[in-house]
Amino acid sequence: MATRMDPMTNAINPQNNFQNTDSRFVRFAKDIPMVVNWHITERCNYRCSFCYSDWNHLDEVWNKLENVRKVIENIAHYHAERFGAGAAPWRLSVVGGEPILFQKKTQFVVETAVACGAEVSIITNGSHLENMFPFARLLSQVGVSLDSFIHETNMKIGRQCNGHTLSFEEISDKIAAFRAINPNVRVKVNTVVNQNNFDEVIVDKVAALGATKYKILRQMPFGDNKGVTDEQFYTFIRNNYREDLFAKVGSGRHIFIEDNSVMTQSYLMVAPNGCLFQNGGAEYRYSRPLMDIPFEVALKEIDFAEEKFFSRYTSTATETIIARMHNAVA
Ligand SMILES: C[S@@+](CC[C@H](N)C(=O)[O-])C[C@H]1O[C@@H](n2cnc3c(N)ncnc32)[C@H](O)[C@@H]1O
Ligand code: SF4
Repeated sequence: MATRMDPMTNAINPQNNFQNTDSRFVRFAKDIPMVVNWHITERCNYRCSFCYSDWNHLDEVWNKLENVRKVIENIAHYHAERFGAGAAPWRLSVVGGEPILFQKKTQFVVETAVACGAEVSIITNGSHLENMFPFARLLSQVGVSLDSFIHETNMKIGRQCNGHTLSFEEISDKIAAFRAINPNVRVKVNTVVNQNNFDEVIVDKVAALGATKYKILRQMPFGDNKGVTDEQFYTFIRNNYREDLFAKVGSGRHIFIEDNSVMTQSYLMVAPNGCLFQNGGAEYRYSRPLMDIPFEVALKEIDFAEEKFFSRYTSTATETIIARMHNAVA
């Protein structure tokens, strides 16, 4: 496997990380948490036609709980060594598949990560949000994927189980019940712009859910599903890029837009089998398992573009897309 030098690991200064003179690293350490997305399972109750959660039924680490601890401790150790005690806590984002179908195992992952000093968030299709209530207090953020509030659209997408789709009222009630347990939780909404929803307006309802972050993702081509054209993507953005609707949840940017190029090599992702992996090529690229090698070694075994990571957390990626959209019209 070819390796590329990784700017993150190159910058490690084990003596004193904050003496690194590169201001981006200081900012990264203090303001922008290191976020690791662990796709803990590929199993799901929905069948979204574009879903990339496919790891060929690899053995899932959480079938051996002691290995879950090893992976999390490995990441925590890297974060402490790299960024030091004054850094923002790292965040474990528990993703799938649908993690919350497996309540006990998800709870173990969450509790272990919190015990290791991480903040924890979960990305879910929302269908069983109530399964999180027993450990809701431990979560700093819940990300819910909502592509449409129209039953027929969700049926076409595959965001359904046995013909049931999540209505606005249903997810509203579930979020309200979650907030009753943990009033501090941040709610994020993800929308994938795809062939079935690109002409819909949903931002008003997303804002009404009290979301503090709204992420609009262009569908990555997957299998036979080629995604949307530029014009379709821009149609959705034109209709839904409404920062003003989020004013009541605080100042600053709330809407973040990701085109396909921003989504590749910009996420720190762990596969169900505990290997770091990277998208961007025809096939996923894997490191050896984090149960066996240090995180910094695994990082060198995949392609990770730190600049792209930064651009997702600042306004850069979103502003570039908005400028391109305006140029396309001009
Ligand atoms: C793979 S899902 C797993 C978590 C959960 N099942 C859910 O749907 O939120 C994580 C996120 O990836 C998004 N996603 C899935 N396939 C995608 C694709 N081809 N392009 C862009 N985003 C995608 C989902 O909509 C969701 O927001
Ligand atoms: S709900 Fe999430 S994991 Fe399940 S199929 Fe849809 S995008 Fe994939």
